[in-house]
Amino acid sequence: MAETVLVTGGAGFIGSHLVDTLIDRGYNVIAVDNLSTGKSEYINNKALFYQIDITNIDAIKQVFQVHKPSTVFHLAAQISVSRSTREPAFDALTNVVGTVNLLEASIENGTRKFVFSSSGGVVYGEVDEYPIKESTPFAPVSPYGISKMTGEYYLRFFKREKGLDYVALRYANIYGPRQDPYGEAGVVAIFINKMLKGERPTINGDGEYVRDYVFVDDVVNANIKAMEYEGTAEVNIGTSKGTSVNELFKILKSLMDFSDDAEYGPPRPGDIRKNILDNSLAKEKLNWQPTYPLEEGLKKTIEYFKGKMGEDGTG
Ligand SMILES: NC(=O)c1ccc[n+]([C@@H]2O[C@H](COP(=O)([O-])OP(=O)(O)OC[C@H]3O[C@@H](n4cnc5c(N)ncnc54)[C@H](O)[C@@H]3O)[C@@H](O)[C@H]2O)c1
Repeated sequence: MAETVLVTGGAGFIGSHLVDTLIDRGYNVIAVDNLSTGKSEYINNKALFYQIDITNIDAIKQVFQVHKPSTVFHLAAQISVSRSTREPAFDALTNVVGTVNLLEASIENGTRKFVFSSSGGVVYGEVDEYPIKESTPFAPVSPYGISKMTGEYYLRFFKREKGLDYVALRYANIYGPRQDPYGEAGVVAIFINKMLKGERPTINGDGEYVRDYVFVDDVVNANIKAMEYEGTAEVNIGTSKGTSVNELFKILKSLMDFSDDAEYGPPRPGDIRKNILDNSLAKEKLNWQPTYPLEEGLKKTIEYFKGKMGEDGTG
């Protein structure tokens, strides 16, 4: 019988790609999502879908009791840094309490491995040395960063006290098809969407904010490797390379034959100046490496958004 695994946030950007890959690999996939930002059309129709909220512990436990997933991939989250500063209690409820609910349900139902989507973009805060290694102390500067860090502390607790193996994947900036171009995060999706409409994207601040961009397929692969890994680990999922927003715009300009310049707006409060994640531990522990050079991933993302505009009749 096929192994059963559970994906929270299975209707979201990264989660829906992960569900697709798990289905392709023959797993029985249970997808859980409250559809707050996720979309039902992204959910693979071979997955069993539950529209429930991870803060509803009774509903979560019921699903676990019925399906007894061997691995839990926990991606459901409130993902906006700025919303977390406006509504810190909501952020903590979703990202902290929601995570603890899933950990409790995992313990009670014999889950073997818990794969947590953390964020290397926010748990370290502003640091002096790049690329950032996992040994760098946590120093989050936003409620979102605090909630991701707290999730990791709970993972440590449940490992220590209950023996639940986990892999915390600390993602850099993820981009690719299905990312929300209207959200507050996801500069690649936002820029491409604007540029396809012939509009000038807005660069916040001076454009010298540096980020580490990872294509979504590589992140899916990191989740699969985390499931297969025997034991517990906390690893960065990045490329060890940084790209400034100005550079990113320049690459998109040339890939999309866009002739206008960007507009410059005020910097976003709380934005970290630079984030580049060292990925050598992920290579050593999970045998994971990014495989998409930035231009390749961007080309795939542009193709996707072009197709989508065609579908919407807006292109
Ligand atoms: N995209 C990135 O660059 C990035 C970087 C670092 C970490 N992450 C983490 O990766 C994970 C996936 O992010 P994403 O970019 O795919 O975002 P996303 O918003 O597309 O996916 C999150 C999903 O969780 C669902 N969700 C939210 N609150 C829920 C709740 N209370 N109950 C049930 N479902 C709920 C949403 O509907 C959505 O489908 C998140 O945990 C995020 O924090 C993402």
